[in-house]
Amino acid sequence: MKFFIDTANLDQIKEAQDLGVLDGVTTNPSLMAKEGITGKENIINHYKKICDIVTGDVSAEVISTDFEGMVREGEELAKLDDKIVVKVPMIKDGVKAIKYFSDKGIKTNCTLVFSAGQALLAAKAGATYVSPFIGRLDDISTDGLNLIAEIRMIYDNYNFDTQILAASVRHTMHVIDCAKIGADIMTGPLSSIEGLLKHPLTDIGLAKFLADYNKGN
Ligand code: E4P
Repeated sequence: MKFFIDTANLDQIKEAQDLGVLDGVTTNPSLMAKEGITGKENIINHYKKICDIVTGDVSAEVISTDFEGMVREGEELAKLDDKIVVKVPMIKDGVKAIKYFSDKGIKTNCTLVFSAGQALLAAKAGATYVSPFIGRLDDISTDGLNLIAEIRMIYDNYNFDTQILAASVRHTMHVIDCAKIGADIMTGPLSSIEGLLKHPLTDIGLAKFLADYNKGN
């Protein structure tokens, strides 16, 4: 399973990269705005900074909602770095744009996916990644993990190459459950990755080992 970090915060991206388990980054316009990154030029420069830190794929989202605009923006973004994946919303023109990018060998991440049907369409269009938002489904009392299981079954039935990128991951249990179901990737905050480290018995055990070692010194 690959781990992506879902942030535009450079310090957190560096921290996850330094941990040695980071496989990529996802961003969106809201995450950019959260870091105070606004305006096309600043956003482009920020993508370049992220690409300089990480070794894996970096999802960069288009703002246009029409086919021509998405193609123009996506081609511009893809030229920034080989790591850039063009993030396209699951709307009608988005599906057309994903097919266009796929035919041109440009990597895509189909975002804002909330149903198995949408995921099937994204795969048919040739998306590199599909992003079902599990946390936002949980927020409206719908089982986000069940959607991951449905997509896994459909993609396996037909050997689709599209990778399931479980998005809107909020905590460590989401990560563990996605791993059990067989999501290819999860993207979440740094806390969802670092939270996997923690267990009180590890801390108690280590304290005891060190105390016993020190008895002999
Ligand atoms: C996915 O790529 C999105 O950036 C993200 O996972 C959305 O998460 P949220 O629902 O926590 O905003």
